[in-house]
Amino acid sequence: MSKSSVTITDNRTGKSVELPVLHGTHGPDAIDIKSLHRELGMFTYDPGYVSTGSCRSAITYIDGDEGILLYRGYPIEQLAQHSSYLEVCYLLLYGELPSTEQMTEFRTIIRHHSMVHEGLRRFYSGFRHDAHPMAIMVGIVGALSAFYHDSLDVTDPEHREISAHRLIAKMPTIAADSYKYSIGQPFMYPDNSLGYVENFLRMMFAVPTEPYEINPVVARALNLILILHADHEQNASASTVRLASSSGASPFASISAGIGSLWGPAHGGANEAVIRMLQSIKSVKEVPKLIERAKDKNDSFRLMGFGHRIYKNYDPRAKIIRAACHDVLKALSTKPEPMFEVALELERIALEDDYFRERKLYPNVDFYSGMIFKAIGIPLNMFTVVFAMARTVGWIAQWMEMMEDPENRIGRPRQLYVGSPQRDYVPLDKRR
Ligand code: CMC
Repeated sequence: MSKSSVTITDNRTGKSVELPVLHGTHGPDAIDIKSLHRELGMFTYDPGYVSTGSCRSAITYIDGDEGILLYRGYPIEQLAQHSSYLEVCYLLLYGELPSTEQMTEFRTIIRHHSMVHEGLRRFYSGFRHDAHPMAIMVGIVGALSAFYHDSLDVTDPEHREISAHRLIAKMPTIAADSYKYSIGQPFMYPDNSLGYVENFLRMMFAVPTEPYEINPVVARALNLILILHADHEQNASASTVRLASSSGASPFASISAGIGSLWGPAHGGANEAVIRMLQSIKSVKEVPKLIERAKDKNDSFRLMGFGHRIYKNYDPRAKIIRAACHDVLKALSTKPEPMFEVALELERIALEDDYFRERKLYPNVDFYSGMIFKAIGIPLNMFTVVFAMARTVGWIAQWMEMMEDPENRIGRPRQLYVGSPQRDYVPLDKRR
């Protein structure tokens, strides 16, 4: 029990409640309000959960003022420089970096779960050929519950682990299949002689009739993007996964719900929205007009890729990806598109503008990730799908942590009712 506390007094009744203050490893303290309703008969009101912590978590830490992001205590900069996506998956799931033997075993397990049931593959043909791959992902991942019954007892830690491995292993196959279906090409089977990232690239871009060579620059860039997107604590999609699975729902159903939440343009869909915005700007001369629109209170337009609920400083992922973006363009000898010039000008003006400075609106990870995706040949409608693939491990780690938490109960927020007071039913012929 924490030694410090805060006292809340209802000045209408004079009744008080003393609430314990909880201290984490890093970051602000939290007031434990569990007894508030019991003692004072009141709830808290916090739309958008701006001041509400929903759980204890030991997975990811963000300091938005300092621009710090840690996975299991390790700074994102160090992981981005030295680690691989699969090693980060292990770290997020199990809490520690693996030994050589543990890593070899983990890699083998993930490889052996990379195929999906053939029956599941037939599901794709039920979708319209021009469906967005995110819409397909939501359906296919949800449908996994119908194919892998043998691991659906969420109270069994072994079942949870098998589902975790299956999801991490099958996500690249499902993502690539969604793309192949949308362009009318045959699905490629996974090739277990390849690494995780290389396998995904091959399933995305190879065709059965021709050899496919993996470009190491592209594989490295994708590995980096996957690491940077692997987890981000209690954001909208992670909270969706936690809330959905708090009822005991299957991890496949819950992660499908998380994918749906991620798709929104205020969340993971922003990477696609950034490129659409940049493509709509014909030249750098149009940038000031766009900035004015973003500042206009009567215009709903927002600069996509700017701002973050938590980061009130440069998003550390954006810093890493910004540098990588330049390296990738150089290494691929890609002639920068006009869009890149527009992006740099947008960034320059926004960073100097009082509106953006006062509100601490900095470019976020999505501002740059789309430019790398574009440079390495990932099609626009697949940007958020790759984000979902990367974030799957984060969602699963959050789910596993929640399932092991003795404080875990079904999530059930309360509300401030502002509807009609109680009234009596009026038969149809008596209504005016
Ligand atoms: N362009 C112009 N004004 C903005 C923007 C923007 N991109 N973002 C926030 N503002 C303004 C907003 O109008 C408000 O101004 P005022 O105080 O005068 O009313 C102020 O900044 C605070 O905004 P908010 O909407 O209260 O902030 P929030 O924490 O609820 O929203 C956000 C955060 C990320 C949804 C928002 O900044 C946004 O819509 N950004 C654009 C979409 C985007 O890039 N999303 C990706 C986020 S990072 C990846 C991820 O989490 O998935």
